[in-house]
This record gives sequence, C-alpha cells and structure tokens, in this order.
Amino acid sequence: MIVPPYKVKLVEPIKLLPYRERKRAIEEAGFNPFLLPSKTVFIDLVSDSGTSAMSIKQLGSMFSGDESFAFQEGFYLLRKSVKEHFGFPYVLPMHQGRAIEDILFEILVKKGDIIPSNSLFETTRVIIERNGGEPIDLPGDGGDIDIKRLKDLLKASSDCIPFILMTLTNNTRYGLPVSLDNLRKLSLLLKKYNIPVIFDASRFAENCYFIWKTEKRKKRFRDVVKEVFSFAETVYMSTKKDGLCNTGGLFMTGSRKLYNRVIEVMTVKEGFPSHGGLPDRDIWAIVNGLEETLEEDYIQHRIYQVEYLHKLLKDKKIPVFDPPGGHAVYIIASKILPDHQFPGFALASEIFVKGGIRVGVFGGDLAASDTPEYIRLSIPRRVYTERHLEYVAEVVGSVVEDAQKIPKLNITYLPREMRIFGARFRRAE
Ligand code: F0G
Repeated sequence: MIVPPYKVKLVEPIKLLPYRERKRAIEEAGFNPFLLPSKTVFIDLVSDSGTSAMSIKQLGSMFSGDESFAFQEGFYLLRKSVKEHFGFPYVLPMHQGRAIEDILFEILVKKGDIIPSNSLFETTRVIIERNGGEPIDLPGDGGDIDIKRLKDLLKASSDCIPFILMTLTNNTRYGLPVSLDNLRKLSLLLKKYNIPVIFDASRFAENCYFIWKTEKRKKRFRDVVKEVFSFAETVYMSTKKDGLCNTGGLFMTGSRKLYNRVIEVMTVKEGFPSHGGLPDRDIWAIVNGLEETLEEDYIQHRIYQVEYLHKLLKDKKIPVFDPPGGHAVYIIASKILPDHQFPGFALASEIFVKGGIRVGVFGGDLAASDTPEYIRLSIPRRVYTERHLEYVAEVVGSVVEDAQKIPKLNITYLPREMRIFGARFRRAE
C-alpha cells in the first residue's frame, strides 16, 4: 500500500450542486467544461496546472518574499537551487510557461524554420506558428521522438532546424515519458549537426520517475533528474505543474548569449529579469516546490494516484489509454461515442451532469495535434484522496454504461485560435 506522504492541515470545502443546477451550468457553458465556473464543480480534473496544494513550507516561506524591484533575495535562492538540481548556471523566472515560449521563440524561430518535437502542447505549437515556424510532431514509442523520422528530416532540411524541442512528459501523447535511451540517441544524432535540444520540462519529475523506476531505483531520484537535464542545452518549464506552485515558469540555459538576449526581451515584455513579473513570494514557493517534487516518497505517491485511477477505470472496461502517463488518465472518447463528431465534449458534459466532475477535452478536429478526441482526467498534485478518485471512477463508469443515451453536439461558436478552450456547442435536435 502506498500511503500519502502528507497529512491535511487546511481544508477547502467542496459541494455537489443539485442535478438541475449542474444541468443548467453546463448548458450555460456551451457544453465546454473549460467554460464552467469552478464554483459549479465538485471534483475538478480539468487541469493539473496551477492546481497543486502547496505545503506548509512553501506557504510559510512566501512571507519571507523580498518584494524589492530589483535583484531580490528569491532570485539568488532560485539560482542556487537550479544550479544544484539541474546543473544550469543561468536562470530567469517568468509568470508562466507560455510567457517563456513567447520570448524564446521570438528570439530563436524565424520564418520558414521547422521545429521537430516528440509532440507539442497547444500553446507551444501556436506560438511557434505565430513566429513563422512550422512545428512537426514526430512521436515515437511512449513519449519518445521517432529517431528514424527525425534522421530523415535532418537529412532533408537540417539548415531550417534551429533546435529540437522535447516535451517532458509528453502531454499531448497521453502524458507518457521520454526514455533515457531516446535522449541518448537524440544527443548522438544531433552532435553531427550541431543542433541544440531544448526541453519543455514542465513535468520533468514525473518523466524522471518512470526512468528511475525502470533503472530499478539504483540511483537517487534527484541524480536521475540531473542526468536527464544534462541532455539539454536550454530548458524551460511551467512551474504550475511539477514545480508544485499555483503560478510561475523558469527559463534555464548554459548559453550566456541566449541568457543575455532573453533578459533584453523579457525586460520589455514580462518584467525585470530577477522576477519576470512574479512577486518574490512566488519565487520562494517555486524554490521550495522544486525541492519537494524531488522527494522520492512524494513522486512515488503522485504517480501511484494516476495509476490507481487508471486501474479503477480499466477494471470497468472504460477505453483508457494504456499505459497511464504521469499526470492524467486519458479516455478515448471516440471509442465510446463513435457516431459523434465531438465525442469528448459530449462525454465530458455528461460526466459533469452526472457527478459534478470536470475533465479536460483535447485532440480531435478542434486541436492542432492529430490524436483522436479524448478526455483528460488530470490529477492535481496533493489535492484529492484516493476516495475522491474512487468516486470519479464510479461516475465515469455509470455514464459510459448509458453512453447510447448521450446526445450529440453541434458547434455554435468557434474561436480562431486555441479552439478547444473556447468552442461552444448546443445539443443536436
Ligand atoms: N508546456 C506544456 C507541456 C504544458 O502542458 C503547458 C500547459 C505549457 C507548456 C504552458 O504552460 O500554462 O504555465 O503557460 N499546460 C496546461 C495543461 C494548461 O492543462 O496541460 P503555462
């Protein structure tokens, strides 16, 4: 048995609204769970981003935040921590992951460039496109990049490839990890071309846990993390995920030249380089969050929760993506509702009406990636108990049992960009 390595000191009450109010709420949200007011939600699995429960150490340290304009204390703590855990001499904080993507790709991507990756998150893809680049997903086994296809692409177009972007874990590919073997092969291949690797390491701890597990835990978990980071020249992460924080992002690099250029652009767009628009108190929370995410009992329980929900759903014969990834369980909605054009939104709406549970919808016609429409049950870190997860499995199980009754949806509004987050629907007649 894996017991949570924490106890609860502060509670946030949650309430299941009456059935009629849930039904009204999803109608008003245009059958898109992203648009539901959070107060209508009983159990919220829409994202694992910014939703972590912070520890007493994180919250306590926030009172020590040094809210000075320039070169406040948190910056130095952060620099020390990043050097120690990830090996990078240069680090800059920013308000969240996509702010770094915006600045970094403005600097590194030019019109006509190709950016190969193991697969990109929606924001990453759109920001590359906005800078004139063409993102190309080359998913391989698990969360890996397909080395063979990458080789072919490099042969044909290496001149237009400024860097390779690896997402750890691979969020759009079911949260699966990139293997150490894949990183080794990638590094060997790129040496020939002198092309750098950049990591989007937003879920680095979860990724490294899988590597640590396959290596039979012969090393310390934190040593595996350091080894994995040694394969990248530059790394960025949203600290809203494995940073165990409610906000923030980090940029780290070994290149003084790139560091200096990012400082120039971020000073215009985000804030002074020592805080990048974050209050110093949040930087203290990041420093402590990184320390806690590297604790072996924390990460083991974290992944256990995902595996537990996956097993409960699989036992009920729900078509979950196998094996489970690091932060979420993915249900292939098109297998449950094959006649629907928007099976993910239809299923997610029904799960909300049935049990007040909010899940995310990704993939399919409205997303940029080529995965089928799926629902993502993301598990916030340190927030829910195994009992909550059992309730989720009960509700999802009963919705899927009655799936033939779920009404189809038609689109009523479609934004031009980031379509899944803003699309609205109505029930077909
Ligand atoms: N990269 C990955 C792999 C992500 O999953 C996200 C966000 C970002 C970058 C952007 O970071 O939100 O701090 O600006 N993912 C969230 C999710 C929104 O629900 O998967 P951000």
